[in-house]
Amino acid sequence: MSFRTLEGQDLAGKTALVRVDFNVPMDGGKVSDDTRLKAALPTIEALSSAGAKTVLIAHFDRPKGKRVPEMSLRPVVEPLAALLGKPVAFADDAVGEPAAAMIASLNDGDVGMLENIRYYAGEEQNDPAFAEELAKLGDIYVNDAFSAAHRAHASTEGLARALPAYAGVNMQRELEALDAALGNPQRPVLGIVGGSKVSTKLDLLKNLVTKLDKLAIGGGMANTFLYAQGHEVGASYCEKDLADTAREIIKLAGQNNCKLFLPLDIVVAEQMAAGVPTRVRTLGAVDDHERILDAGPETVARLKRAMANSKTLIWNGPLGVFEIPPFDKGTVEAAQEAARLAQSGALTAVAGGGDTVSALNHAGVKDQFTFVSTAGGAFLEWMEGKELPGVEALKTN
Ligand code: 3PG
Repeated sequence: MSFRTLEGQDLAGKTALVRVDFNVPMDGGKVSDDTRLKAALPTIEALSSAGAKTVLIAHFDRPKGKRVPEMSLRPVVEPLAALLGKPVAFADDAVGEPAAAMIASLNDGDVGMLENIRYYAGEEQNDPAFAEELAKLGDIYVNDAFSAAHRAHASTEGLARALPAYAGVNMQRELEALDAALGNPQRPVLGIVGGSKVSTKLDLLKNLVTKLDKLAIGGGMANTFLYAQGHEVGASYCEKDLADTAREIIKLAGQNNCKLFLPLDIVVAEQMAAGVPTRVRTLGAVDDHERILDAGPETVARLKRAMANSKTLIWNGPLGVFEIPPFDKGTVEAAQEAARLAQSGALTAVAGGGDTVSALNHAGVKDQFTFVSTAGGAFLEWMEGKELPGVEALKTN
């Protein structure tokens, strides 16, 4: 894969339309997690110091082509300005006179932001006329929003066809890390896929068993696999109608020489609540009223050994109900071991997906992984082996 990047470009005096992902968690109208704002800083700073005007384009939530005041991007302006240490201008409209006037007010090196691009129906329709209208506002296009690259929208795809297009620093880092994890990894490669539902990760599992050397399945979805192999799962969450599919995935793994790790033991409780009594059970020894809520110690110990015997780890989804201690134990222990190996240089550890990032934060190791993607849906689609329109549009050949 090769992309045009900003390195070595003459950017002085140019107006760069930069697609960022500011679809950030908000609480009471205030940004409650600024991870995605921070991710955009290196590109903005590179453009500013090269003397370009930066015009940020982003979406927030899903207003479906209408102006929904609660979905304005205005609340992002102040936190971003504080992180950048300089003002960020704002245009109430993403196209037309208000946008042009805001941009005209910028000096070289300044930063401005357009209102929620999804207020306009042309965005999600990837309407070429809308992309052209946007293109009129700038000289170059920079896509720094890997996490929105699974959408073929005007600001993620169409605009890349209308202006000279470059990958931003964050986009470049994401693509390089993902390539190191699944595209061209150092082997052996171990995957960990957790979370509750097999149904949302079927394509992902089917793709991964063809790419990885080892795959550990954890979280609620492991219950479906255990059930498919004839083990009792008691009152656990389990997609029993997917038992055939689970068996198919087990078979596919075998055909592709991917060693599948299903739980060896499990932690059960009668209630999913903080601090309740728990028991470690061997497979099949689950009572009717018990629920499987975490990976057991044998399972975690084997996973840690598998990590130590691997060169690359790709992780999506927790191993248990990590939000409710003590069911965070398996996820925390495994995450800390991955972080330790990554820090020692023995393992390239890459993770992504919304609840995975929260789980790594909870374990206190997010910054110790080799790379943690800020993407949710885009990361999953990439793990499914799908082409991401926003990435495809940046390729130079
Ligand atoms: C995300 O938050 O994952 C991205 O911003 C994409 O948002 P979307 O699912 O509304 O397209």
